[in-house]
Amino acid sequence: MSDVSLQAARRRTFAIISHPDAGKTTLTEKLLLFGGAIQMAGSVKGRKAARHATSDWMALEKERGISVTSSVMQFPYADRIVNLLDTPGHADFGEDTYRVLTAVDSALMVIDVAKGVEERTIKLMEVCRLRDTPIMTFINKLDREGKDPVELLDEVETVLGIQCAPITWPIGMGKRLKGVVHLITGEVHLYEQGRNFTRQDSTIFASVDDPALEARIGADMLAELKEELELVEGASHPFDLGKYLSGELTPVFFGSAVNNFGVQLLLDFFVEHAPSPKPRETTTREVGATETRLSGFVFKIQANMDPAHRDRVAFMRICSGRFSAGMKAFHVRSGKEVKLANALTFMASDREIAEDAWPGDVIGIHNHGTISIGDTFTEGERISFTGIPNFAPELFRRARLRDPLKLKQLQKGLAQLSEEGATQFFKPLMSNDLILGAVGVLQFDVVAYRLKDEYGVEASFEPVSVATARWIRCKDEKKLEQFRDKNAVNLAYDAAGELVYLAPTRVNLQLAQERAPDVEFLATREHA
Ligand code: G4P
Repeated sequence: MSDVSLQAARRRTFAIISHPDAGKTTLTEKLLLFGGAIQMAGSVKGRKAARHATSDWMALEKERGISVTSSVMQFPYADRIVNLLDTPGHADFGEDTYRVLTAVDSALMVIDVAKGVEERTIKLMEVCRLRDTPIMTFINKLDREGKDPVELLDEVETVLGIQCAPITWPIGMGKRLKGVVHLITGEVHLYEQGRNFTRQDSTIFASVDDPALEARIGADMLAELKEELELVEGASHPFDLGKYLSGELTPVFFGSAVNNFGVQLLLDFFVEHAPSPKPRETTTREVGATETRLSGFVFKIQANMDPAHRDRVAFMRICSGRFSAGMKAFHVRSGKEVKLANALTFMASDREIAEDAWPGDVIGIHNHGTISIGDTFTEGERISFTGIPNFAPELFRRARLRDPLKLKQLQKGLAQLSEEGATQFFKPLMSNDLILGAVGVLQFDVVAYRLKDEYGVEASFEPVSVATARWIRCKDEKKLEQFRDKNAVNLAYDAAGELVYLAPTRVNLQLAQERAPDVEFLATREHA
């Protein structure tokens, strides 16, 4: 096997999907602990708090109780390399989350045992379904009273439309929580608060028939458990690797993240069965993860990650080949060779300079505005990965400056913040307006706040008569020119310099489309 094949086979790149408060942060922290990435529980929250402190605009994030930044954490476990891509928490940022989910090979769904399937989980699950992403499920907060486990699985199956294969099964819940049974190995893992952080630190019985078990959990509970296990066996789906990998079935684990109970069983199963990087579609061909030449795509850009340095970092998911420090790569959209100097890896403990990276890994490339979301890098081949769209925004506002002398700063700020992909910035052909489009209304507040905090510009956003936007494509140069002349009042350039039709009404859009049958009006922009 080549180095690339070996390294790709070791990678597990995933994201956690959940409704806010289900326990994503807590679980992340425990997973990192197993990876040896952080020494003390509480570090992730600590980091969260430290990040809030470094930049004032984070205060807004905190005020709103949302998390708009997402990051990448890498840790080794059981000879595998796990890459955990964090997804932003708030519903307004669906587009961002969508793109993170295009960069992973599988997902982990966290459900609160008392609340069951919640609205945001349903949405995220819909996104996963688009790519048949394999999903494992962790039912959290077992140390609290919650829904009956059988009913909960039923809820997941009916609401989310995915079969459930329980891998662990709870023994009691809330105050009566005694442990979990592993339905495949048969082992019983006892819940002992303050202990059982690791396998070595746990009391484990080989099976429910171990005579010593009765003494620990009581005869009544044991009888109840055996009865329930029979019922579960009859009523639930057995684990089927093929069905899991095709997104039809989810293995389910029960536990308590905050008590680190049941987490290692999940992680062991995850690194064993979750998929390594798979082939990915491009505009011309499928690229296999084990191909030796480097390829990757940018799924996220973050401006001012470190306000002291004003850096913008493009997050590239590697799809094939090997990245090594300082190498040159071909930026397909611009047709230029770019030196990937000082690329970052995201070891959970900190950002570090990358020496090597492999399929499934994410590297951070410093960038001065030349890289956009969706861009592909290769070693020379002109291919573009597909499926990383920019959606047409639904809401539009015109930026209004307090101090007209700061126009340059405003333009720069809007353009740079738009690179992150949560908002889109348009410059009409016929006016000096600066128009910002977003999918959620909260975005305008965030941008206004960040413009002030990061660029020293006070701006507000006022209504503008734009109902929707469409990217314009036309193969025939002449017809495109005619179209541009006729429709100049409604045309603009986006931040990447692409032509966009800003329609004042839906009816106007329809008419424009009817009048120009040779012109394509695209609701998403993907780089060709
Ligand atoms: P999120 O990232 O999905 O939004 O959730 P997060 O991990 O922040 O957890 C939300 C709350 O649920 C936190 O409480 C956390 O401590 C709690 N929690 C997580 N896992 C468990 C569990 O297994 N059992 C119980 N009982 N609680 C759990 P908080 O009060 O909001 O924060 P904190 O004061 O505990 O930090």
